[in-house]
Amino acid sequence: QKLELQLEMLEKGGYDHFMLKEIYEQPRSVGDCLRGRIYPDRGLVQLGGIKEYAEKLKNIDRIIIVACGTSWHAGLVGEYLIEEYARVPVEVEYASEFRYRNPIITEKDVVIAISQSGETADTMAAIELAKERGATIFGICNVVGASIPRLSHAGVYTHAGPEIGVASTKAFTAQVTALTMLAFYTAQQRGAITESKLIEYLTELNNIPALIQKTFAANDHIKTISEEYKDASNCLFLGRGSSFPVALEGALKLKEISYIHAEGYPAAEMKHGPIALIDADMPVVFIATQNSSYEKVISNIQEVKARGGRVIAIVTEGDTIVRDMAEHTIEIPEVSEAFVPLLATIPLQLLSYHIAVLRGCNVDQPRNLAKSVTVE
Ligand code: G6P
Repeated sequence: QKLELQLEMLEKGGYDHFMLKEIYEQPRSVGDCLRGRIYPDRGLVQLGGIKEYAEKLKNIDRIIIVACGTSWHAGLVGEYLIEEYARVPVEVEYASEFRYRNPIITEKDVVIAISQSGETADTMAAIELAKERGATIFGICNVVGASIPRLSHAGVYTHAGPEIGVASTKAFTAQVTALTMLAFYTAQQRGAITESKLIEYLTELNNIPALIQKTFAANDHIKTISEEYKDASNCLFLGRGSSFPVALEGALKLKEISYIHAEGYPAAEMKHGPIALIDADMPVVFIATQNSSYEKVISNIQEVKARGGRVIAIVTEGDTIVRDMAEHTIEIPEVSEAFVPLLATIPLQLLSYHIAVLRGCNVDQPRNLAKSVTVE
């Protein structure tokens, strides 16, 4: 048993938990996902696994994304990116709902199934149904050779490497990376983006691993914030645009590993319900980076402050406006809106990690959860 413990310590590579190790692996895992697929100088995305379907993407009318859990959140980021850059309508569905509601699918559709494990029963069933109805299936999976990649016609591996922590971290950012490339790839096939824009975006994307590394500078600060909020019983996460799924993912991480009840909401929907819950005992985490909805998010922060709420905000480096309003700010480097999810997710992962550790929770193996859910 002693040997087993030593082996586990070795596997954790000096980190206290697999989750923390995997959070810190993200500069590498995102880099591995990008490797050999983007050519910033030439403004080119090459996705070998789907190249036979380049023509199909050119003429496609819509894309349907199916997934569960964290992978579904990645799908929502993908929806935002594909619609914004490739101008193709996207629907994102929980695989479990999709399969039971007689969905309208035709041979013209591409269904993207996102799954870390590649073994999730509901996602597999959704693929089978879509396949029966003639759709083309792309898999975005992490585990090479798993069932979902085998069931798919084509796909993109995320190459995040094995993920041991039950709460998904590096697999999520790799999924978002793959979807970002898919959005630009589709945009390129359809001529929906100019070459110079593509060069600009791909250059920025290529630098994301280095910027993820920079977000870790906030770790000690996040730990201090965590001490203040570790006894909260509820927590709200708010964001707009592509930061809305980041808010959902932040809430899911917190509830999964710390057992604090947390909800993610689009910031503007706060006034239609969650605002009733706001008081000094309910921390509110905002993703308030300087992007298209910045001003709107600021007024949402004011609404929370006016009701005595305490605000933790993820902000763009150097932001003083939100700093003067919020109890705590956590800075991330400035990036184009397309890449905010890849950076803003990291401090939220660290926040839930530290809170869970402080509460004495088993972060790598939370109660009642499984890494891969192979039953319906
Ligand atoms: C389980 C895991 C989650 C994961 C979800 C979907 O609930 O605990 O972390 O997001 O399944 O899994 P998949 O392997 O399909 O991404």
